[in-house]
Amino acid sequence: MTTGLDAASLLAAAMSFQRAKLVLAGLELGLFDLLAEGPADETGIRERLGLHPRGTGDFLAALAETGVLERDGHGYRNAAAAQQLLVRGGPSYMGGFLHVADQIMYPAWGKLATALRTGEPQAATYSSGDMFGQLYNDDGKRSAFVGMAEDASRPLISALLRAFDWESCGSVLELGGCRGNVLASLAEAYPHLTATVLDLPALRPDFDAHMKALGSTGKVGFHAADFFTDPLPAAEVVMIGHCLVDWTDAQRRALIAHVFPAVRPGGAFLVWDPMIVPGAESYLRNLTRSLNLQLMTPHGVNYRADALAEMLRDTGFTEVRHGELGRDVTLMTARKPA
Ligand SMILES: C[S@@+](CC[C@H](N)C(=O)[O-])C[C@H]1O[C@@H](n2cnc3c(N)ncnc32)[C@H](O)[C@@H]1O
Repeated sequence: MTTGLDAASLLAAAMSFQRAKLVLAGLELGLFDLLAEGPADETGIRERLGLHPRGTGDFLAALAETGVLERDGHGYRNAAAAQQLLVRGGPSYMGGFLHVADQIMYPAWGKLATALRTGEPQAATYSSGDMFGQLYNDDGKRSAFVGMAEDASRPLISALLRAFDWESCGSVLELGGCRGNVLASLAEAYPHLTATVLDLPALRPDFDAHMKALGSTGKVGFHAADFFTDPLPAAEVVMIGHCLVDWTDAQRRALIAHVFPAVRPGGAFLVWDPMIVPGAESYLRNLTRSLNLQLMTPHGVNYRADALAEMLRDTGFTEVRHGELGRDVTLMTARKPA
C-alpha cells in the first residue's frame, strides 16, 4: 500500500529537473572550485567565471536557498556538503560521476518515454551492443567512465575492508576491477593478500598508471581477460562490484556459473551492487537507478537481491547472505562448499 502526494509535492516532483540542473551547471561552470578558494560576491563570481549579469544573481541566490551555497555579508561560500562533494581534488569528490550525470544521463532522461516505448537505450555514448568496446576506443569517454565508476565505488571501500574476514583469506580476484582502486586499498590494509584485478585488455595502461600514482605497483596484479568467455584464474575469494547490473538475467546467470569453478573450495564469492530490495529505504532510489541503466546501457537493469541469491544457490553456492555495504548498495556473500 502506498499513499498519494499532495498537489504541491507532485508539481515539485515534476519540476525537480530544474533543481538538479542548478547543481550540475554550477559544477560545469567551476563555481564550487572557485568558492573553495574563498567567499566571493556576485560581481566577483561573474567576472571570474565569465557569466552574464542577466541570470547570475538569481542562480546564486537559488543555490543559497537550496542550501548548496551559504550567503553572508562577504558573499557566497560553499556549504559543507558542496565543499566535500563538489570541489575538485577532495577525497569525497563526486564531480567525475556528476559530470557524466550532466553530460550523458541528463539528456538521456529527456528521452525516457521513448525508452519505455522501445526498450532501447537513449544515451548517445553507450548505444552499441558492445558497450565497453565502444567506450574504451575513445580516450575521453574511457576516462570519464573510469572517473564515474571510481566515484561510485570509492565511498564503499572502507566498509568493504570491514565486511569480510580478509585476515583468513590468501587470495582475491576482482572481476571488472577497473584500474584497481578498490584492490589497492585492500592490498594496502592486508599486505599478505595476493590481489588480482581481472578486466578488459584496454584498461591495462590505465591500471599501470593508476597503480604507479598510488604507489601500489607490484602489490596488485592485472589479468587481461573477458570475464564471460576467458578462463578465470582461481582465488579463495572472487568478487565483483558495480558490474552485474550492466547485463541481462541470462548473462548474470552465465557469469555466476563461470565464476563457480574459479572459487577455491571453502572460498567465497562477493557481489555488490545497488540491488532492489522491496521495503528497504533504498527501494525508490534503486528503481530509479534501474531506469537509468535502461537508458544508458544496452542490457542493464538493477536486479532484485532475492533473484541473485536464488541464482547463486542454483549454481551450488551456499550460506548466501546479504547486508548493506553503503548507501543503497547491497553486499551479497556466498560460500563454495569445502
Ligand atoms: C561499472 S565498472 C565498475 C568498476 C569497478 N568494479 C568499480 O566498482 O569501481 C564495470 C567494469 O567491468 C569491466 N568489464 C565490463 N565487461 C567486462 C568483461 N566482459 N570482462 C572483464 N571486465 C569487464 C569494465 O571494464 C569496468 O571496469
